[in-house]
Amino acid sequence: MARRIADALRDIAVLVASAAPPEDVFAEISAQAARVCGVSAAAVVRFTEPGAEVAGRWGDVDAFPAGTAFPLGAGGALTLVRDTGLPARFDEYERTDVDMHGLREGAATPVVVEGEVWGALILAAFGGERLPSDAEERLTEFAQLASLALASADARERLLESRERLVRTADAERKRLERNLHDGAQQRLVAARLALRMVRNQLDAPELDAISDELGLALEELRELARGLHPAALSRGLYAAVGALATRSPVPVEYDVVEGRLPEAVEIAAYYVIAESITNAVKHANATSIRVTVTAGDELALSVADDGIGGASFEGSGLVGLRDRVEALRGRLRVSSPPGAGTTISAELPL
Ligand SMILES: Nc1ncnc2c1ncn2[C@@H]1O[C@H](COP(=O)(O)OP(=O)(O)OP(=O)(O)O)[C@@H](O)[C@H]1O
Ligand SMILES: [Mg+2]
Repeated sequence: MARRIADALRDIAVLVASAAPPEDVFAEISAQAARVCGVSAAAVVRFTEPGAEVAGRWGDVDAFPAGTAFPLGAGGALTLVRDTGLPARFDEYERTDVDMHGLREGAATPVVVEGEVWGALILAAFGGERLPSDAEERLTEFAQLASLALASADARERLLESRERLVRTADAERKRLERNLHDGAQQRLVAARLALRMVRNQLDAPELDAISDELGLALEELRELARGLHPAALSRGLYAAVGALATRSPVPVEYDVVEGRLPEAVEIAAYYVIAESITNAVKHANATSIRVTVTAGDELALSVADDGIGGASFEGSGLVGLRDRVEALRGRLRVSSPPGAGTTISAELPL
């Protein structure tokens, strides 16, 4: 038993160290719990305000995939664990009113994170299977030893969620500012400039031309600022927005971009990666052409390649900011930039 637990913990630690997605760590912990206890299904369950949610699971049954949320009613091993904070066993699922997908028996033990009952590890017997008589004891021993891995997967999950929230909140705020500038200051300047032109048509006062030019410059600066906050072209989708970038670029940009709409956060992130990569290619690469491709499958895959001098690195704030933004959406950003062979920035974003 001790040997098996040691092996199990080593496998889990390897996965944690590889920065695997938290759901995969929870699934691995479930798999190892089932193996150590000699049963064919197990799950890590997180307690939520109204009930519980499957954080990860393992076993040869289709029921209760990760992400499944369910209420905790009276009875059931999980309800007992939540209410008492102690290991529990329950073998009367067949008698409850809810469809339990053939679950016969469950043994659960609390998972304690930062002194609170965070959730539970549960062993499940479906159909004709019975749980070993010492299932709770084995599970409890395993859970105590695996608690560090559980806590770290939970912390990682919360970190990923909070990064994602920060990006979404910041984007929403930038979009709001852009709308306010567009509907407020910009409109007023446009109207003021028109009024000035009408006056100018009636008066012989050439000094008004300089004022009109000045207003024009202010308007252009404001538009530029608004575009930096949130590109208005994105309201028509990524394809249109990349088209607008290509039109403005002093170095020719060829693009092959998926049409149709994508989740807003993904569109915004993809747009920033493409915009900054084009700006970098223009600013640093001495490039003669830039090629942008964006395809959508299970994830959005994009690349921006130039034929310039290479040598891009994460030393400025531009590429680092892109990496932060992409990782906040659980994506990956890579830079390939060998000296003399051009630069390719590629990113994958989950859809
Ligand atoms: N396409 C490219 N070709 C050659 N060098 C590049 C390219 N992109 C970036 N670099 C190099 O990598 C550095 C880092 O780029 P990054 O975008 O992070 O910063 P920056 O462009 O210098 O400043 P910022 O983007 O914050 O205005 C650049 O200073 C430049 O030396
Ligand atoms: Mg840059």
